[in-house]
Amino acid sequence: MIRSRIHGTGRALPARILTNDELARTVDTSDEWIRERTGIRERRILDAGLAASDLAAEAARNACEAAGWDPATLDCIIVATVTPDSPLPSTAVRVQQKLGVGAGCAAFDLTAACAGFVYGLSIADSFIRTRQFKRVCVVGVEILSRIVDWRDRNTCVLFGDGAGAVALGQGDVARGRDDRGLHSTHIHADPTGIDHLHIPAGGSAKPASADTVAGGEHFVRMNGRQVYAGAVRNISAACEEALRANELTAADIDHVVAHQANVRILEGVAERCGLSLDKFYLNLERFGNTSSASVPIALDEAARAGRFKEGDRLLLCAMGAGFAYGSAYLRW
Ligand code: UT7
Repeated sequence: MIRSRIHGTGRALPARILTNDELARTVDTSDEWIRERTGIRERRILDAGLAASDLAAEAARNACEAAGWDPATLDCIIVATVTPDSPLPSTAVRVQQKLGVGAGCAAFDLTAACAGFVYGLSIADSFIRTRQFKRVCVVGVEILSRIVDWRDRNTCVLFGDGAGAVALGQGDVARGRDDRGLHSTHIHADPTGIDHLHIPAGGSAKPASADTVAGGEHFVRMNGRQVYAGAVRNISAACEEALRANELTAADIDHVVAHQANVRILEGVAERCGLSLDKFYLNLERFGNTSSASVPIALDEAARAGRFKEGDRLLLCAMGAGFAYGSAYLRW
């Protein structure tokens, strides 16, 4: 039996910091409101002229370097994003080019919003366990600053830009001495969320036009309360599913690396699942919600800070637009 394992992690964050106080100068909000309701203090904003593939390639390169892999040896690049460089071609193929990976490697984007990285991990895990590929780079990248309406205080205070990546390869289970690696992934979607977090125009249902642009229909629209409730419900369900599938209790988990949307959502998940909040790695204070990038950025920060010991039990979980949601359980 083959198990996949994270051989390296990486991240890339823009240098430009946008604080709550700066935001409060342009929209009707305050540092106090944002911190109390979300836990966010600041977020990163990508410079004009750069795009998702630039950050994604940097994160992917860092993950490959940490794994000791030459990017040219990758079999597959999966980029989870809702902010591709452009609708066509995929951002993944642009990342392939920026990494200097020649023709032959598979490369594609996937859209599962904030759950995109967990979805990507699940797909990459299947590729490895079925021996289709040996080396897969899974990237979560978002340049959300380009799709939020900076006049809308309901959304613009929440989001930030960033990228995170993992180098996923074979574990050592075949030799019967290594429990490290991915033990299970669980991905789902709940269509009751379709209208609560969406971009009305710019797709085939309502192509971009002067009218859609004038109406701001190419920006994110969100019903915060509904998304909040959906996130607590669905992330908790995904965590409980991972625990059940691996015959574990909440007390067995050493670290939770969850999607960083709102600290209150994570408090709700912790309470429902009986997980101690101390086990959650939190960085949303510094980066805000980076959608599909948030789990791999947190994973990389925690890993490089030496938080994980070999064999530690990690639970990853996320939910976003759709609602798409999921979890993964792994031994570090
Ligand atoms: O990754 C998934 C994507 N999104 C999320 O996970 C977001 C999920 N939702 C949330 O995190 C929370 O619902 C929010 C942070 C968006 C909002 O927090 P809330 O406690 O649900 O506040 P609310 O929407 O109930 O709004 C409370 C008040 C409202 O005023 P009234 O109607 O009570 O007078 C809002 O208009 O706060 C007002 N408000 C703001 N005030 C200052 C909304 N946004 C702001 C703001 N600054 N930025």
